[in-house]
Amino acid sequence: MASTTPAGLEIKPRHMDFDLPDPLPRHWHSGDAFKSHLFDAMSVLFPDGERFFIDSVRQFRDQITDPVLKEQIRGFIGQEGHHSREHLTYSQRLRDLGYDVTAIEKRAQARIRFTQKKFPAKRQLAATAALEHITAIMANGLLTDPRTMEGAHPVMQRLWRWHALEETEHKAVAFDVYNQVCGSRKLLRRAMRMATFFFVLDTFRGLVHMLKVDGLLWNWRVWRDGIKWTWGKHGVFRPLLREYLDFFKSDFHPWQHNNLDVLYEVRKEYDPQPLAHAG
Ligand SMILES: [Fe+2]
Ligand SMILES: [Fe+2]
Repeated sequence: MASTTPAGLEIKPRHMDFDLPDPLPRHWHSGDAFKSHLFDAMSVLFPDGERFFIDSVRQFRDQITDPVLKEQIRGFIGQEGHHSREHLTYSQRLRDLGYDVTAIEKRAQARIRFTQKKFPAKRQLAATAALEHITAIMANGLLTDPRTMEGAHPVMQRLWRWHALEETEHKAVAFDVYNQVCGSRKLLRRAMRMATFFFVLDTFRGLVHMLKVDGLLWNWRVWRDGIKWTWGKHGVFRPLLREYLDFFKSDFHPWQHNNLDVLYEVRKEYDPQPLAHAG
């Protein structure tokens, strides 16, 4: 099987033009520094990360013969390209607030350059498939658990929900391409361990930087509440752990987590004319 995306599910970029608040309220998420900067720290990594994803998939585009998967690759590239664009504007808003976004970007760019120079293309694609799984489970959390975005600035909610929706739509594309051109589960698992390490590290460093600029780095209340919100008993990240670990199963593929019903619900917020549904 070439594509594991439910048959007929259309993957198409939406041309959004978010009027991001300018200036961006420093703590746009519920007036909470930790919540805001956790999202901010991930956002600043996206433009370079997504360009890397596009490059990784593009290198194998010609080897894909299945017309459905080929069309999905086109959709994937289009969607990630649009995400990059919107998140670059987001990054600019953060820069305007005094955060050293350029330093964070440079670190990410150096790592990507290293990966592209030293690692074979298959390993780059495996890293992409791994990171797309992390994105997909976080996207699902964001779309299904209201606490993730509750209290956030409405325009920022709209931006994050749009991104999460499209990540859900294309969650299997890089994975399917990888399976077609390589398929080694061992390499995939290794890529996941590495991708997780660097994603967590980079996000954490971004968060620390922004809290430091705010003068809140050593505020224990900020950390206590933040850790409770993410990893506490009812933390928003907690339910993701099992879905994350599923990736290490030998027969895993992204649509085993079937969240089509969520996808269709959220589409209603963005598509005046409904796109093709699966089935
Ligand atoms: Fe994206
Ligand atoms: Fe993606």
